[in-house]
Amino acid sequence: MTWDELENACRSCERCTLSLSRTNSVIGCGDRNAKLMFVGEAPGEKEDLSGVPFVGAAGKLFDKFLMAVDIDRDSVYICNILKCRPPKNRDPLPEEEDVCFRFLEEQFRLVKPSIVVCLGRIAAMRLIDPDFKITRDHGIWYDRGDYSISAVYHPSLLLRDPGRREAMLTDMKEIKRRLDALENRDKID
Ligand code: URA
Repeated sequence: MTWDELENACRSCERCTLSLSRTNSVIGCGDRNAKLMFVGEAPGEKEDLSGVPFVGAAGKLFDKFLMAVDIDRDSVYICNILKCRPPKNRDPLPEEEDVCFRFLEEQFRLVKPSIVVCLGRIAAMRLIDPDFKITRDHGIWYDRGDYSISAVYHPSLLLRDPGRREAMLTDMKEIKRRLDALENRDKID
């Protein structure tokens, strides 16, 4: 698929019932050639209305963490496991994840990230390990050959539980360190 084909397929997708209630499919945003890709859970209300991931309250907090470690939001690629908003922001159903996963696979193929970071447990359970426990396993890195992958707390959890923000900052600093290391390696290659 090309990017145009992916966008058209997402916008016209009717493979699950979330298509009936969506305002917009929320495909992804940022640099399509990014080394670093973040994958969240599913669009919320603001995202559904705008068609852009992580623009609501959780997104604003996430932006602060990106800024804190000097990562430019426009230089990374941000998307979600689901492209359509679940009603009342409930957790995605396994069958919704299953039918939507083809779009994320295309995004991986097109972006070719070297570093993938799951935002929260839903993405981590899908992309890292079905038994992933975010409190126990956040900040651990896994080598997947083409890319390395880790998970951090979901920013909406950090809105509800500010006590975890320090740990998030530590994880974000490690992401930045890995990104810098990659970029420095590129300069001398
Ligand atoms: N939460 C997510 O997981 N993704 C978004 O795009 C917004 C909120």
